[in-house]
Amino acid sequence: MQYRPLGNTGITVSEIGVGCGGIGEGCLTADVVQPALEYAFEQGVTFFDTAEGYGCGESERALGRLFSGRRDQVVIASKFGGVQLSPGSWSKDFSAARLEEALDASLRRLETDYIDVYQLHTPKEAALSDCALFEKLDRAVEQGKIRCYGLSNDDGAQAGRFLDRTRGRTIQLTFNLFSQKDRQEFVIGQAPKRRIGLICKVPLSGGLLSGRFSDRYPPPDDERRARWGEESYSERLTLVERVRPVLEAPGRSMAQGALAWLLSHESVSTVIPGVSSLEKMSDNLAAAGMRLTPDDMTALDAIPELADIHLGW
Ligand SMILES: NC(=O)c1ccc[n+]([C@@H]2O[C@H](COP(=O)([O-])OP(=O)(O)OC[C@H]3O[C@@H](n4cnc5c(N)ncnc54)[C@H](OP(=O)(O)O)[C@@H]3O)[C@@H](O)[C@H]2O)c1
Repeated sequence: MQYRPLGNTGITVSEIGVGCGGIGEGCLTADVVQPALEYAFEQGVTFFDTAEGYGCGESERALGRLFSGRRDQVVIASKFGGVQLSPGSWSKDFSAARLEEALDASLRRLETDYIDVYQLHTPKEAALSDCALFEKLDRAVEQGKIRCYGLSNDDGAQAGRFLDRTRGRTIQLTFNLFSQKDRQEFVIGQAPKRRIGLICKVPLSGGLLSGRFSDRYPPPDDERRARWGEESYSERLTLVERVRPVLEAPGRSMAQGALAWLLSHESVSTVIPGVSSLEKMSDNLAAAGMRLTPDDMTALDAIPELADIHLGW
């Protein structure tokens, strides 16, 4: 594994982390993913991303159980404001009044007395102007309950405003070969200048960039395929074939090529592919240390369909 600074937070993270978004949802129980998480830790992964809402708290609980007694060896990022009270039923609450209670509940589920990176989970714009909320976040840093805080969203312009107005130091952004709208201005422009910690979520475009999706897998009732719609799904499969010849190479799977493309951007601190199985985890972790050649980068930049592409989550 290779490690990078999380911007100027003073925290170091493995360049490949683990997205724990699906844990506790559908058939992805904590027991099912436990071997993959344990394997990741053994292979040197130190960065694990979760949220209060994932699996109605089950994702945080799974990490709490796993790292109990060795908490100091991992960096845990969690999120607040996105509340899932029952499966599939989400609501948003970024009120300053709720922050302390939400943070304490996350700390209990994570079986820890601090969270390394505490992120606003896709907030509405109004939350960014709520002085009371950021006073409480600053106070939580002073108290040692969180080491730093940040924003998880899908918009580089909003990320810039968040950094202008707050002491937040990390941005978790949807950034992958099929989601590039913030690449020039934010990932290449602002992120290195501002020395922020940049966390790339959805790095495989939900699995598409593994090159393993087809008409038959995942099935039409898969949550992602249903969300994208069949017409868009078939266009996405066509795009996959445009990038496959560059990403896939002898000794390099397509998923590894897609992660290496992200890691070829110096401002990226860590990429967090979603955990689903030990086999896929192992494939992804082998991308540590891989970079694309300048020729590969140029070849991908020259694909006209990728110019300013931004396929939604
Ligand atoms: N609003 C937010 O803050 C937000 C939103 C979205 C995501 N996130 C974060 O980002 C993380 C990752 O997002 P994501 O899981 O949606 O997208 P992703 O990482 O792009 O895709 C993950 C999916 O791709 C498939 N996959 C992974 N590695 C593979 C491999 N080597 N070969 C073949 N297939 C592979 C798996 O699906 P199958 O096994 O089902 O094929 C896996 O569930 C989340 O866990 C979460 O931490 C945050």
